[in-house]
Amino acid sequence: MRTVSTASIMLGAAGSVLALTPLDTFYPPTLNDTSYISNASIGTYGGIYKAGTNGPTEGTPYGTYDYCSMPHPRTQEYKEPEPIGKGTVKGKLVYLEYLQRHQRRTPYNILPGGENQPYQCDNVRPYLYAGPNSQSGVQPIPMYAQTYQDPTNPFTPDVNGTCQYPQITVGGVQDGYQHGRDLWKVYGEKLSLLPAKPNDRVWFRSSDSALTQGSAGAVLRGVWPEYDGALPLHQMVSSVDTVNEGYSCDAIDTTLDELESTAEWKEHLTVTDTLRSNLGSMLGATSSSWQDTFDHFSDNFQARLCNGYDLPCSVTNSSDCVTTEMADEVFRAGDWEWNYYWRTNPYVKKYIQVVEGLFIGEVLARIQAVQDGTSTLDYTHIFIHDGDLGPILGSLGINALRWPAMGSNIAFEVWEAEGKHDDLYVRVLYSGQPVETIHGTLDWIKLSELVDIMSPYVPSDIVTLCG
Ligand SMILES: *[C@@H]1O[C@H](CO)[C@@H](O)[C@H](O)[C@H]1NC(C)=O
Ligand SMILES: *[C@@H]1O[C@H](CO)[C@@H](O)[C@H](O)[C@H]1NC(C)=O
Ligand SMILES: *[C@@H]1O[C@H](CO)[C@@H](O)[C@H](O)[C@H]1NC(C)=O
Ligand SMILES: *[C@@H]1O[C@H](CO)[C@@H](O)[C@H](O)[C@H]1NC(C)=O
Repeated sequence: MRTVSTASIMLGAAGSVLALTPLDTFYPPTLNDTSYISNASIGTYGGIYKAGTNGPTEGTPYGTYDYCSMPHPRTQEYKEPEPIGKGTVKGKLVYLEYLQRHQRRTPYNILPGGENQPYQCDNVRPYLYAGPNSQSGVQPIPMYAQTYQDPTNPFTPDVNGTCQYPQITVGGVQDGYQHGRDLWKVYGEKLSLLPAKPNDRVWFRSSDSALTQGSAGAVLRGVWPEYDGALPLHQMVSSVDTVNEGYSCDAIDTTLDELESTAEWKEHLTVTDTLRSNLGSMLGATSSSWQDTFDHFSDNFQARLCNGYDLPCSVTNSSDCVTTEMADEVFRAGDWEWNYYWRTNPYVKKYIQVVEGLFIGEVLARIQAVQDGTSTLDYTHIFIHDGDLGPILGSLGINALRWPAMGSNIAFEVWEAEGKHDDLYVRVLYSGQPVETIHGTLDWIKLSELVDIMSPYVPSDIVTLCG
């Protein structure tokens, strides 16, 4: 833990050279420019990419962009929307739609040349068991997955250890619990929206991934530490899921091909030629899936740095290692790509529509139901992925989009001005702060304005659009 806090202070010091507030670290003004990638003096633009194996972590100072554990609403920092805080409007929170990425985890992408370190997951129990839908009758033993290596198996994996990839790590579970505790203090204790125990006005959903499901159990335990019972985590059938690119849609691939054929996209590959070539030969990562975007390098490096491991070295030469400078450039390039995918590419509107438009429509329908007086819910919490949060933030017109990191979250708060049931306002928090967008800071806007901002991204006919 000692090395972690020292690293945070050092990064904080680098931030103060750039004179950045925690909020500034979310919005690099030159992110829409490939010089953002090649300019080494930017470092991580104040971002934090380090956490220990155990424990909830938080960036220092709190509120800083932290890849390992993004900030979330906490009473320490939470401010009511400005008109409520100043007392010019009296009102109360009537609905919360909370979307979040899962917490920190092992990588999806194992280095093709092999990993020079094993990953250990004996310290976390991914539970998996089934029972009947009642408390009577057969009750299963809470079984959990225990991954092991058998020396008699003639096939050797590219990485040693006891993890399945990309499983959630113990630090991720502990982070999730703290995340839930903090949400309870804001939305339960302070604002009295959440019930003391789950009732029929709360609703939960996840993708079909074990990662988001693991996060749900940890976060919701933080919301209700004493609750003694099970809860439904809603999921759509995988093949038609409206999150995590569940349904098949040719237009997703064709639009991605188009946006990866532009001069700007090619330029970002040109400025990173040396970096990609060095990493490729060091780590055996020369295939197009490693070279065409920064997704895999970024994923592999952050999973190590966020769980108490070091950056990788070549498996054939232990002094040939990825340096902090190389990793920082990888992370800057990854951030540039996310901003390009969801904000600045020429096909962005269609890309958001085909990837996330149906889900955006579902969110708007739940919020509209509050306006219409037909909502049956006070609190919805949905556990999804970076690839879902990116397009949603794009639809809001976020000023700059760094990669939505571990546990990143969007809170749509619906407020009712006192005595006026049809006078509803929305505030949108991104990782705990009102999101800064091309439409202004979304601290207090009419509910209808939010619908106007997001509804252009809801396709009227997705089937035709998908082709
Ligand atoms: C590199 O980034 C630094 C810090 O943001 C900035 O002052 C400088 O002008 C940039 N240099 C170039 C060549 O863009
Ligand atoms: C995994 O461990 C075995 C036995 O110690 C070793 O021979 C092998 O090189 C290791 N593999 C990697 C990718 O490190
Ligand atoms: C191993 O890597 C180091 C650092 O890149 C390099 O100086 C050295 O020449 C390499 N050794 C071999 C045998 O390739
Ligand atoms: C980003 O850069 C592109 C290419 O220079 C430009 O066309 C676009 O307007 C910029 N977008 C934003 C949001 O700054």
